[in-house]
Amino acid sequence: MIELGVNIDHVATVRQARKTYEPDPVWAAAAAELGGADGITVHLREDRRHICDRDVRILRQTVKAPKLNLEMACSSEIIGIAEEVVPDQATLVPEKRQEVTTEGGLDVVGGYDKVADAVKRLQAKGIAVSLFLDPDPAQIDAAKKMGAEAVELHTGAYANAASAEFRRAELEKLIRSGRQIAELGMKLHAGHGLTYHNVRSVARIPEMAELNIGHSIIARALFVGLTSAVAEMKKIINEE
Ligand code: PXP
Repeated sequence: MIELGVNIDHVATVRQARKTYEPDPVWAAAAAELGGADGITVHLREDRRHICDRDVRILRQTVKAPKLNLEMACSSEIIGIAEEVVPDQATLVPEKRQEVTTEGGLDVVGGYDKVADAVKRLQAKGIAVSLFLDPDPAQIDAAKKMGAEAVELHTGAYANAASAEFRRAELEKLIRSGRQIAELGMKLHAGHGLTYHNVRSVARIPEMAELNIGHSIIARALFVGLTSAVAEMKKIINEE
């Protein structure tokens, strides 16, 4: 069984468009759990453009799915909040203020000391750490060296490939990296840009343990409701 982490950031995006109280991501998490979500994922960005501190604190109390996964940058302020709230898992991502969404994986080779320090602080609180990386062997080796429990492969290049040929090549990279991650004893996660149409090939990577999917599920939820949208995605990722 591949676990589905449902990213509910964009429920908060709609709320923040009016700076009001609805729709509430806490309600969204409950609806996603009813649809079979194995985890709830939120990204507490430094600019708080969608998810806010209040959401993370309440979700810690209400999420009953096996996992509350906090996506976060290696920023001292956000690490401090994670240390207080203690999500089940932290996924470390790069973050730029100007970006629309997370662009590219974390550079754990270039920023080794800073990322390793964040991993150590989070693990000291019993939080499992996943690193969001491009499918690059050197980055994966560095993740192992710093003791990460999991690597989430960035599937954006696969999802946004301009042709079937490029998509196939990107899928090959994901398959090779998946094997490397499992051989090193880490868990394989993946996410970014996955949709009801392109998720199957990624879900078939043999070592895949967890997929984190947001935008496509929230978009579909506008038409069928979040519980049904999650149930549909869960069925697709686990079908033979
Ligand atoms: N995984 C990570 C680490 C991300 O940063 C994001 C985007 O917030 C996702 C998964 C989900 O991406 P999408 O919204 O494109 O499904």
